[in-house]
Amino acid sequence: MTANYTLKEDIRDYWSKRSETFDLAFGHRIPPGPEMDAWAEAVTRALGPKPLSILELASGTGEVSNVLMSLGHTVTGLDFSEAMLAIARTKHAGRKQARFILADAENTMEPDDRYDAVVCRHLVWTLTRPEEAFADWFRVLKPGGRLLVFDGDWTTPTRLGRLAGMAIRLIDRFGGADPHYDGALSDRHKSIMERLPFGHGLTASELTPMMAAAGFVDIDIASHASIAAAQRKTANLRNSLRTLLYRRFILSCRKPETV
Ligand SMILES: C[S@@+](CC[C@H](N)C(=O)[O-])C[C@H]1O[C@@H](n2cnc3c(N)ncnc32)[C@H](O)[C@@H]1O
Repeated sequence: MTANYTLKEDIRDYWSKRSETFDLAFGHRIPPGPEMDAWAEAVTRALGPKPLSILELASGTGEVSNVLMSLGHTVTGLDFSEAMLAIARTKHAGRKQARFILADAENTMEPDDRYDAVVCRHLVWTLTRPEEAFADWFRVLKPGGRLLVFDGDWTTPTRLGRLAGMAIRLIDRFGGADPHYDGALSDRHKSIMERLPFGHGLTASELTPMMAAAGFVDIDIASHASIAAAQRKTANLRNSLRTLLYRRFILSCRKPETV
């Protein structure tokens, strides 16, 4: 058994254990209203208005899948956790626009040149072999197809985030900790982070040249601020503070028409 295999098993097990309460932790579910609108706007800005065939990597409980379907796209949601897939399948039962498959996002086994777009939220930071994964995503995209990545640096809080973190700890101390915000699993999270290539924190500036090396062009980094602002419209104080903790980004790029 290789070290990489063990790490992947740990990651899969971690997410499978979190699957049942995943949607209860702030920032995961995308409720209808301002937040859903902000996500939809960010997707349309990157992918355009036409209905597309999309491979959604690490689809989890199917929250981003829902945004994509609401925009008329057809979604193949892929995840390596059966527990996550089961929740997404139940949530979207009967919707013909989506199917959910068990596979590894670092080696999808999907056909060459198959999808108009590849989308993922909060996957890249947890990849064990990012270069191989990006090459695979490039392969499954049609010429001219787009990759859209929502992610962030979950290791180093921003300056404002450090203050927000202090305020959150005070609220936790006097109001009780939020049981769904990683909670008792956080030691496991830390142990996984220490072994990940992006365990030091994922930034857009580190990712951009890696995407270029994989062959992608027109690499664009957009701000996550409009989504965070929409979240704050309905969030309580503790969750509003959470939107300030980390630096998030939206990366989009394109596979050239001719390779
Ligand atoms: C933070 S959750 C994000 C879920 C979903 N993208 C969302 O934003 O709601 C991470 C997800 O990535 C999945 N995952 C992590 N590594 C993966 C891999 N190599 N292949 C497939 N799924 C993976 C986990 O099972 C989990 O569902």
